[in-house]
Amino acid sequence: MFRKRSQTTALADQPTETSEPGGGFPQLSMPSPLRLTAQNVTQVFGGRGKQPVVALENFSLDVEPGELVAIVGPSGCGKTTLLHAFAGLIKPTAGEIRVGGQQLKSPRRDVSMMFQAPTLLPWKTVLGNCLLPRELEHRIDEDDRKRARELLTWAGLGDFTDRRPHELSGGMQQRVAICRALMANPSVLLLDEPFGALDAMTREQMNVDLRRMWAASGVTTVLITHDISEAVYLAGRVVVLSPRPGRILEIIDVPLPKDRDVSLIQSPEFAQTCGHIRSYFIREDRHAGV
Ligand SMILES: Nc1ncnc2c1ncn2[C@@H]1O[C@H](COP(=O)(O)OP(=O)(O)OP(=O)(O)O)[C@@H](O)[C@H]1O
Ligand SMILES: [Mg+2]
Repeated sequence: MFRKRSQTTALADQPTETSEPGGGFPQLSMPSPLRLTAQNVTQVFGGRGKQPVVALENFSLDVEPGELVAIVGPSGCGKTTLLHAFAGLIKPTAGEIRVGGQQLKSPRRDVSMMFQAPTLLPWKTVLGNCLLPRELEHRIDEDDRKRARELLTWAGLGDFTDRRPHELSGGMQQRVAICRALMANPSVLLLDEPFGALDAMTREQMNVDLRRMWAASGVTTVLITHDISEAVYLAGRVVVLSPRPGRILEIIDVPLPKDRDVSLIQSPEFAQTCGHIRSYFIREDRHAGV
């Protein structure tokens, strides 16, 4: 499903060679990556007359500092709920989340989440949207602007910094959202199906670029995806969740080297790992909805 970069033609939304994404990742002053831990996390929604919904059950995971872990599971099994708990947006019904060893009680500036929809502010330019995390801290300076421009150039958007979101394609908006998440200088990056709305070709290129970005920045990353190949290509470990209530079925160590060339996707190890994960969801006698 992936193509070698040298075989990739310029994407329609990249007008010049110089703005092709995936170039050198800008030297950002990323803080040290932090360990992210979920311990026996259970999330129940409802109550007060409503039928309770157990979204997530007894979920435990230890993400090493600088690791990229992917989470796959059927629709409705609690993946977004888990990411919201990692972001401190909800307090789990039971269990706890720790960031860098500290119990998470509310959102932290150094834990950055990219939502499935790009959620850009329509009245702000691409540069203004990218600078938003800094603006919320009331301290945009020339360094911030320089850094935002570098990130946007890396993401292939160097020629679009003054445009508004409605002038961009869906894929370009998602790239702005990734740049914005990185502008927060996160110690932990949470990505909820970041490429879910993209066409297959743009998505494949974004995967290659995301892997490079992660390798260059070393940020602790949790990625949710419905795409098993994407999970295996990007992650060091893949967590497979059951249908709701989401429980861990298996945590798979991806048998690919850390320094990952895109040609590895043609390897037997890649195919076997994808096949193993797929076997959890594809049954002859039922439809699991992955
Ligand atoms: N705020 C909420 N209030 C009530 N129920 C909720 C809330 N958020 C999620 N749920 C329920 O929790 C379950 C898990 O939802 P969640 O969004 O985490 O699933 P998901 O795995 O991300 O699904 P998808 O792959 O479709 O995005 C669903 O049954 C959903 O209806
Ligand atoms: Mg979701």
